Amino acid sequence: MDYKLKGKKVFISGSTSGIGLATAEILINEGAIVIINGRGEKNVTKAVDYLKTKNKSAKISGIAANFSIQEEIQRLIKKLPDLDILINNVGIYNSKSFYEIEDKEWYNQFNVNVMSGVRLSKYFLPKMLKKNWGRIIFISSECAYLVPNDLIPYSMTKASILAVSRGLAQLTKGTNITVNTILPGSTLTQGAKTFLNQKAVEFNKSLNEVEDEFFSKSRGSSLIGRFASVSEVANAIAYLSSPLSSATNGSVLKVDGGSVGGIS
Ligand SMILES: NC(=O)c1ccc[n+]([C@@H]2O[C@H](COP(=O)([O-])OP(=O)(O)OC[C@H]3O[C@@H](n4cnc5c(N)ncnc54)[C@H](OP(=O)(O)O)[C@@H]3O)[C@@H](O)[C@H]2O)c1
Repeated sequence: MDYKLKGKKVFISGSTSGIGLATAEILINEGAIVIINGRGEKNVTKAVDYLKTKNKSAKISGIAANFSIQEEIQRLIKKLPDLDILINNVGIYNSKSFYEIEDKEWYNQFNVNVMSGVRLSKYFLPKMLKKNWGRIIFISSECAYLVPNDLIPYSMTKASILAVSRGLAQLTKGTNITVNTILPGSTLTQGAKTFLNQKAVEFNKSLNEVEDEFFSKSRGSSLIGRFASVSEVANAIAYLSSPLSSATNGSVLKVDGGSVGGIS
């Protein structure tokens, strides 16, 4: 499919693996100029090399910056070129009882998951408004609605992203810029694979049995009853990055396999 992304400059936060890396691969194949990111040089270089082996003519580079550290974000912003597309993908979580979570954990998740996108958007939205074209995409989660008991701070950050994204979209009224949110459900990243493997070993079950049990017990509302692949989510991100999605602004596109439920 031609998403009309040739030559568009894209930055994807937290993209040395998972959904971000899969998004980079699709956008590169569409001819975009992509900059990926992770905390350290080693992973960034490894991911850049991987993407170059997948596409010999890839226009790809990477910048290491840790979104937990404000000075690193300022340094990152100085290194970034003028962007056409900003994908606020970085997200961290910690599965823990509410009673065991210290204040600093709440603040760190908020800082990485919400303020990363706030800070980058504050810098790049005015530039997009000036040239009257741009895409900003936030990555939320089904947890914004489901609020699992062991992921309350994470869910708080993912719900906050919905408000930030909608608010920024309102600032684009009458322009060719759009700001939207992708809301993934449980997605088969390396982290999810490790989780499934650990449970399979712990309970002496097959991977399929563990996956079925997760969906019947923890995501009973899912209509697909399985993890989404990273490319299923990345394809939706590519669509919202594209000029083809120009009438979608201030929206939330769910790629949750129906887990959130309801009709909104
Ligand atoms: N996977 C799911 O089931 C799922 C479901 C719903 C929503 N989401 C959301 O989708 C987004 C992507 O998730 P994912 O599961 O694909 O991620 P992932 O596989 O866990 O990858 C995380 C990425 O973020 C980078 N990263 C982590 N902490 C960082 C920091 N402080 N500063 C900069 N980069 C950092 C990691 O790079 P380094 O390790 O190289 O630093 C890595 O590239 C997140 O916002 C997540 O909340 C995921």
